[in-house]
Amino acid sequence: MMKTSASFHPCLSTSSRAHGRRASMSAGARTSPGTSISSSSKKPFLGDVLRHLSLKIDQASNALKDVPQRFLDVLVDSTFQFTDQPLDPSESNFAPVDEISEAIEIHQIEGAIPEGFPEGVYIRNGSNPLFGALHSTTSIFGQSREIWVEGEGMLHAIYFTKSSSDSWSVHYANRYVQSESLRLERARQKPCFLPAIEGDSAAIIAAYLFNYLRFGKVNKDISNTNVFEHAGRVFAVAENHLPQEICIDNLDTGATWDIGGEWNRPFTAHPKVAPGSGELVTFGTDAKRPFLVIGVVSADGTKLKHRVDLKLDRCTLCHDIGVTLKYNIILDAPLTINISRVMKGGPLIHYEKETYARIGVMPRYGDAESVIWFNVEPFCMFHLVNCFEEGDEVVVQGLRSPDSLIPGPKLRLNKYDSIISEPAEDDMPMKEGTSNGFFFRLYQWRLNLKTKTVSGGYLTGTENSLEFPMINNMYTGFQHSYAYAQVVDSLTSSSGNCEKGTAEKVNIIYTLLPYYHLNLGRKGNNRHI
Ligand SMILES: [Fe+2]
Repeated sequence: MMKTSASFHPCLSTSSRAHGRRASMSAGARTSPGTSISSSSKKPFLGDVLRHLSLKIDQASNALKDVPQRFLDVLVDSTFQFTDQPLDPSESNFAPVDEISEAIEIHQIEGAIPEGFPEGVYIRNGSNPLFGALHSTTSIFGQSREIWVEGEGMLHAIYFTKSSSDSWSVHYANRYVQSESLRLERARQKPCFLPAIEGDSAAIIAAYLFNYLRFGKVNKDISNTNVFEHAGRVFAVAENHLPQEICIDNLDTGATWDIGGEWNRPFTAHPKVAPGSGELVTFGTDAKRPFLVIGVVSADGTKLKHRVDLKLDRCTLCHDIGVTLKYNIILDAPLTINISRVMKGGPLIHYEKETYARIGVMPRYGDAESVIWFNVEPFCMFHLVNCFEEGDEVVVQGLRSPDSLIPGPKLRLNKYDSIISEPAEDDMPMKEGTSNGFFFRLYQWRLNLKTKTVSGGYLTGTENSLEFPMINNMYTGFQHSYAYAQVVDSLTSSSGNCEKGTAEKVNIIYTLLPYYHLNLGRKGNNRHI
């Protein structure tokens, strides 16, 4: 909850909030074996094309940089066909919503606002695809499609205000984060960025090339993942680019935050305020070297006090970072982004569970050499719950699953086919309505800095799959007693259709359900929330 009285940033100019209604859905992209150059019969040709593109992409970019933009636009428009990705009826609660022009008062409230509840605003950020749907493209290069996290960021705000007579008024407002790419596509009144994460290899490479040539970036600035506050300023963020300042009063979008010009790379959606100092610990993961850079921002948000390249030899899709009183906690898990893999015809993002995983303990201002790495069993984890020091140990807690939801479950060899494959054996339900492969449980590692040994195990059973954990932020970096997480209940969210395919299993994560109360039953110096 953000207090509306103290943390307002000077509001920015207002602009038109008009947004077209949801576009009609097409039948979705379909692969024709004769048109996709990634079909097995054309592998040698594909290999030649990709090798050539791999070697020449930089030269091509340089050679083509002077090509008139108009020509590129015509070339892309004539080569790529955009289609809306359809939603199954059971996914209708995940369909994009319209942007509303004014805040509206909420008159129907179930339950009661608790006594002592503070005035303020609750803001949620989430993917809300522009033009009514996620998009796919079809071209001579094959197909590519936006994955489920690629919708534009929309802020949803609930304002709680009290009158002089102590009665509450509650208002709701929403607004797209006005990113550069959103403004561009709105101005052109159509999707322009080619999907560049999932699809046929040649189509991915072509998307990289054309997006970069036309817009100077390979992906959209979606700003759809989180909202965080630092030094009294509030930012919307997605991990593929810089945070954008927002005004919590009217949800307007301000400038991108590059920390005084000192941070020129992606910025995690989950930076952490370090206990004690109030500094902001962040990191940026990139598909090209340096793959992972850690940053420490001053408590007043004006300076980048520390920046270090961890010199990783792979791009791990690290989504979260932990902090303790003295350390930064780094997750080096085998969910990787690899452009070379695309060149060989593989996926851009892949969970390489046959490889290695490590957890790094880095002194707050350490360097790559000062990180103590603990080798652990390969794991997939998007969100940490908390990290803290206890004697010689660092305790790391997070929600772990056997497989990755990014880019999406691989239940179909070809996602553009309408035929649904049978689930793999390890994807059978752990509990009715859930999938074993995407069943998230609370896991804890204990990293002993003295003996350099590590132990680990699950703290929750198979009753509930959990995601989106929260603790009271006052306990970040300290031992905590309680955590809260969302219960994944696909039966409720998808009307029992979860056996049908992939989308339901992906989208169940976003179901709004009561938070699950985890009492970890710890002893010691726990401060109860
Ligand atoms: Fe996240």
